[in-house]
Amino acid sequence: MKRIIFLSFLAAFLLGGCCSESGTIKTDVPARPAGQTDMVGFAAPKIDTVRVGFIGLGMRGPGAVERFTHIPGTKIVALCDIRPECVGRCQDMIKRAGLPAAAEYSGSEDAWKELCERDDIDLVYVATDWKHHALMGVYAMEHGKHVAIEVPSAMTLDEIWDLINTSERTRKHCMQLENCVYDFFEMNTLNMAQQGLFGEVLHVEGSYIHNLKDFWPYYWNNWRLDYNHENRGDVYATHGMGPACQLLDIHRGDRMTTLVAMDTKSVCGPDYIEETTGVRPDDFKNGDHTMTMIRTHNGKTIHIQHDVVNPRPYSRMYQLTGTKGFANKYPMQGYALEPEQVASDEMPNHENLSSHGYLSREQEAALVDKYMHPIIREVGDLARTVGGHGGMDFIMDYRLVYCLQNGLPLDMDVYDLAEWCCLAPLSALSIENGSAPVEVPDFTRGAWNRINGFRHAFAE
Ligand SMILES: NC(=O)c1ccc[n+]([C@@H]2O[C@H](COP(=O)([O-])OP(=O)(O)OC[C@H]3O[C@@H](n4cnc5c(N)ncnc54)[C@H](O)[C@@H]3O)[C@@H](O)[C@H]2O)c1
Repeated sequence: MKRIIFLSFLAAFLLGGCCSESGTIKTDVPARPAGQTDMVGFAAPKIDTVRVGFIGLGMRGPGAVERFTHIPGTKIVALCDIRPECVGRCQDMIKRAGLPAAAEYSGSEDAWKELCERDDIDLVYVATDWKHHALMGVYAMEHGKHVAIEVPSAMTLDEIWDLINTSERTRKHCMQLENCVYDFFEMNTLNMAQQGLFGEVLHVEGSYIHNLKDFWPYYWNNWRLDYNHENRGDVYATHGMGPACQLLDIHRGDRMTTLVAMDTKSVCGPDYIEETTGVRPDDFKNGDHTMTMIRTHNGKTIHIQHDVVNPRPYSRMYQLTGTKGFANKYPMQGYALEPEQVASDEMPNHENLSSHGYLSREQEAALVDKYMHPIIREVGDLARTVGGHGGMDFIMDYRLVYCLQNGLPLDMDVYDLAEWCCLAPLSALSIENGSAPVEVPDFTRGAWNRINGFRHAFAE
């Protein structure tokens, strides 16, 4: 027994954590440097025209450039990708939109630094592979820019703390481009939850279940499959975590305290590599299916899953259980409510309502009409027209620009980024230690309960 405890102490230590007497693995929380304050509720001075530079123009980046051509009060100043042809494609897109040509950076691993060093850019927008994200974010903020970084914006605890410390020190926004919190069902359901329709929300679920077999060959330098090859744990948790954490007001009155994770063995990842290269790897680390369970200070739970290799239909799960109701998006979208939560004059077929069955489609439509999120009401139609995963990508960019133009706190701050990204390192730590509990650090370093209430998530 003593030997097992010693070995798990040793394994946790080697992976960057240490065990408490209760067996919970704790990781270091670096002290906030003197003179630095937190960014909870931070708003930067208003920017009339948001001047943006894009880095990373592979499969994801060009869509962002295209969306910015539809957002008034923005200027696309510069484009960067290590591959010149990717820059050229986006330049053509800008020309087709009738906008002035952007400066081009390409051809070397470090060309992006010159973009960050320009003095006519307010926002650097990063859509490269995961290993470059935090590096580029830190450098951009150090050169006086706000930064928006694709998901996951950081893969290790060191990267997370670097982004937090740099954002706090430079007083620059550091936002993760988590688009899934802006999807229509998620936003409307968040509004319902905030209006108390589901009573107290106790349990939420989210996931990234997406078979990437058709995509693997197209990632630059095979970075994504390589990352899964080399790492255990939930390496892509933010699409599930974002909506889940917003429903639970994480660092707006509650905080995550402990997680445990477990994975299956690796089968389909090595199968794919064998099919495409003829050689089966014996060191593929990422399990086919990874599950993480999290408990919060206020006694709520979150369940997050990851599977990018098995032949399953796409799902982000998105499920909430409250004391008065239930919502579910995948595989079947719907709501179930206690009868007293439903006003009979607004709900047709009231007699069909059962707290154990889904509301009818007519009832759901009436509910959505009543509780439509104000942001969806404002830009939902335009978002559907411009597109980007059905419109949610456009709402994300539109809100980012709107908040910068109006000097508002962004919808997602650097602590959201940290909380949603920390699953990659912390779930790995749990799994490598026999699913041991791992303490989730308070990334706000004491400010998690200062803004008590969800309103801050969408300031205006
Ligand atoms: N939010 C979403 O729905 C969503 C969807 C897809 C991808 N993503 C994220 O977007 C990011 C990019 O994914 P992708 O599918 O476009 O991958 P990709 O491989 O197609 O694109 C990455 C790009 O980064 C460029 N790059 C790499 N190193 C560079 C450097 N040093 N300087 C400049 N450019 C460099 C590559 O040339 C490539 O064009 C990832 O973080 C991914 O997780 C998010």
